[in-house]
Amino acid sequence: MTRIVLYTGKGGVGKTSVAAATAILCADRGLKTIVLSTDIAHSLADAFDVPLGPEPTELVPNLWGQQPDVYYNIERYWRTIQAYVSELFSWHGLDEVMAEEMTVLPGMDELGNLLWIADHVDSQAYDVIVVDAAPTGETLRLLSLPEASRWWVERIAPIGRRVSRLGGPLLQRVIGVPLPQEDVFHAAERLLVRLDHLHRLLDDPDLTSVRIVLALEKLSIAEARRSFTYFHLFGYPSDLVIANRVFPPETGGYFAPLRTMQQRYLPEVEREFGPVPVRTVPFFDREMVGFERLREVGLALFGDDDPSAVYYRGRPYQVRRDDGTYLLTLELPFTSRDEVKITRHADELVLQVGGWRRTLILPRVLVDAPTRAARMEDQTLRIEFEARSKAGARGGKS
Ligand SMILES: Nc1ncnc2c1ncn2[C@@H]1O[C@H](COP(=O)(O)OP(=O)(O)O)[C@@H](O)[C@H]1O
Ligand SMILES: [Mg+2]
Repeated sequence: MTRIVLYTGKGGVGKTSVAAATAILCADRGLKTIVLSTDIAHSLADAFDVPLGPEPTELVPNLWGQQPDVYYNIERYWRTIQAYVSELFSWHGLDEVMAEEMTVLPGMDELGNLLWIADHVDSQAYDVIVVDAAPTGETLRLLSLPEASRWWVERIAPIGRRVSRLGGPLLQRVIGVPLPQEDVFHAAERLLVRLDHLHRLLDDPDLTSVRIVLALEKLSIAEARRSFTYFHLFGYPSDLVIANRVFPPETGGYFAPLRTMQQRYLPEVEREFGPVPVRTVPFFDREMVGFERLREVGLALFGDDDPSAVYYRGRPYQVRRDDGTYLLTLELPFTSRDEVKITRHADELVLQVGGWRRTLILPRVLVDAPTRAARMEDQTLRIEFEARSKAGARGGKS
């Protein structure tokens, strides 16, 4: 079975290095491995210090690297749709060349890159697919898109196709906009089916591990916390947190205060992200580029452990709609209800348990929903929210 190991985190924290290092270690250990970058700001080739193309390139035995690019992806998935959008734009008076450029819609590039994951799973050519993903916010938004596309495929696509077949020419004369032909609907449907397939792969905890890379500093931790909550909310299985560039004990002089700061943050990160394990990678005193150096990064992170193993299973935080209420559940082992103090600030729910606190970012539907009750049951905190407005209510999936 294929494993998908996806790394995400704020820009500059070391995603590309850690992804490349993971891939090298997997290949060393006999697993057929591909590492691909879905970040538009590719740097995978620079990390390896070898050229990479839009198709997989074999780098060393068992190891392939790939940097997909947007125009190449368009050929694969978007050609027909793009042709139609471009027709729409030129109908609006944009000249053809401009129209072609405009149709590289935002998000299309990275989604196209992500779709390669599904292709590689289907091809069964690899044991491990390591993904060097885009910085947090983008990836999150894109990853949750397929959820919406399933709805589209099931409901809208069949109607659309019927309309264009039966009423097309007439409708077109009435509203005066070029209507998509059947092949466009087919292409859109194919694309959405692929996105849906990708989504199912990415939320399967046997297949996928979403790992967060962070730096032991305030902003990076804050962003990682946010993505972590979102991953749980949307059901992307996260099994590992990696604190990169941690100053080793022998750090002295100028950097000593920074080491002190990092050592203060580390236990906080372990507590907050627990029970998901946190591993550290030291701040190397050399440039970590090329196979040998990246292997060192990998060994520091995994030692003899299998980098493609599942390091944690569980969904600590979920939201479900339960007629008239939203129920937020959170695994909180070794805690009783009266130890939990709950406060809310805008989109944040702050849980204070004993001496520590955890901030959960609430899904949009819960931001204005009044809290009804909270209780502990089976090591799980259950908070009820009133579900008031029906419009736009779209609960996180359970
Ligand atoms: N543990 C480390 N020790 C020293 N340098 C590192 C370490 N991890 C990453 N780097 C360096 O930091 C820079 C940013 O890392 P990179 O992996 O490109 O981050 P990202 O992909 O998250 O933007 C690169 O120059 C990389 O070689
Ligand atoms: Mg990078």
